[in-house]
Amino acid sequence: MPATIIVGGQWGDEGKAKVVDYLMPKHDVVVRFQGGANAGHTVVTDEGKYAFHQIPSGLLYPHVQAVLGNGMVVDPVAFLVELEELMSHGVNVEGRILISSSAHIVMQPHKVLDNLYEVDRNKEPIGSTGKGIGPAYCNKHSRKGLRMGVFRLPREEIFELVRSRVEDCNRLLEAYNAPPLSAEQIATDFVNMKDIFAPFVVDTQPMLQEMRLEGRRFMLEGAQGALLDIDHGTYPYVTSSSCTIGGALTGSGLNIKDVERVIGIFKAYTTRVGNGPFPTELKDDIGEDLREKGREYGTTTGRPRRCGWFDVVAARYSARLNGLDDIALTKLDVISGFDTVKICTHYELDGKRVDRFPLEASMLEACTPIYEELSGWELDPAYSGSYEELPKKARTYVEYIENEVGVKVGFISHGPERKSTIVREKA
Ligand code: GDP
Ligand code: IMO
Ligand code: MG
Repeated sequence: MPATIIVGGQWGDEGKAKVVDYLMPKHDVVVRFQGGANAGHTVVTDEGKYAFHQIPSGLLYPHVQAVLGNGMVVDPVAFLVELEELMSHGVNVEGRILISSSAHIVMQPHKVLDNLYEVDRNKEPIGSTGKGIGPAYCNKHSRKGLRMGVFRLPREEIFELVRSRVEDCNRLLEAYNAPPLSAEQIATDFVNMKDIFAPFVVDTQPMLQEMRLEGRRFMLEGAQGALLDIDHGTYPYVTSSSCTIGGALTGSGLNIKDVERVIGIFKAYTTRVGNGPFPTELKDDIGEDLREKGREYGTTTGRPRRCGWFDVVAARYSARLNGLDDIALTKLDVISGFDTVKICTHYELDGKRVDRFPLEASMLEACTPIYEELSGWELDPAYSGSYEELPKKARTYVEYIENEVGVKVGFISHGPERKSTIVREKA
């Protein structure tokens, strides 16, 4: 059973990329299974800091084959920028990145529409990254999408297909009184990208199935997080893809029997970028402290992240949804240095104490957190000891989360670097 799945347990930016990179030496192939350029995945090595958006963040080990899976929506122009950036940092990308022919394409009109939809929401924008994700998935599901396989077609066919898809989008733009984009120009640009992209495009689902027969070990890398999932998240304040375990299978073409382990990544506190309910949000100095200490500014948009205490109600929901085997708890260093720390164990809703995560955004908005207060601890920034050597109060915090959520905390991260990682379980 060769696959490890990495999913975000909260509202994204939990440190998924750090964990993918950390575990990659024991895997051969990394597959990003959903999302697109809305993601910002950071890996820090001795060589420097790498920001991945669409390219899987397990790429930094030379033996690794990286795959952009069929569940993704790929922005080809942004892909080339990211590729260039990696090459300029000395990463050898030659033949090591493949893109699923079934992955959908994000085009310029999708980005324009993304922003128009946000304006149209008036006082209730989602806070989208503006990368065209929602409109591209809309086109996919309305069966008017354009897939990466298009680059394998003859030039005239590429031109016609792209032209007709852009004209479709233009009809929507017209409905929003926005000027149309030049379908001919965009179609020509796509024709011109044929020779660049054709070598990257592969039918990845059968390829991965064959790799499985050869005994290769897979890392399935999720983007965003369970609470941003299109079905299971805080709708409509979500992204447009399946960020949970189901998306890992549909978005790669592997199946449930291939899955060995599901690891949920959680920050030791909570952050959210964009709008939507966030019961444990701290709009005070503590929230500000967490933002500054944790450098909580978006990797993709630079926006400040909203910060708050760890939320067990949300975490338990997300853990059960994903059938987690382990939790990787990140940023334990950031939440050190406080006299006391709080963990939300229940919500109060309409005067009642609840421990079930409400799925209606307005209900979640109406929830007030009920906290358990624990003693804080100090952690040396250069800490390099074992779990048992951590301050007792830090361990109490970790074990409190583990018991309340009901999943073993198998990994602890206490710094962005690879070395600032503690493994409690088999890795
Ligand atoms: P992802 O989207 O889940 O991959 O997470 P991001 O890369 O967007 O955000 C996580 C940020 O926290 C990155 O800047 C990481 O380098 C950093 N990071 C990851 N783990 C730790 C940790 O344990 N401590 C600290 N201080 N930073 C961390
Ligand atoms: P990673 O993979 C955090 C949020 C946006 C917005 C909502 C919808 O780095 O964890 P979209 O552009 O998808 O239409 O935005 O989802 N969002 C993220 N928040 N981390 C991410 O990715 C995110 N990707 C999207 O801020 O609220
Ligand atoms: Mg991120």
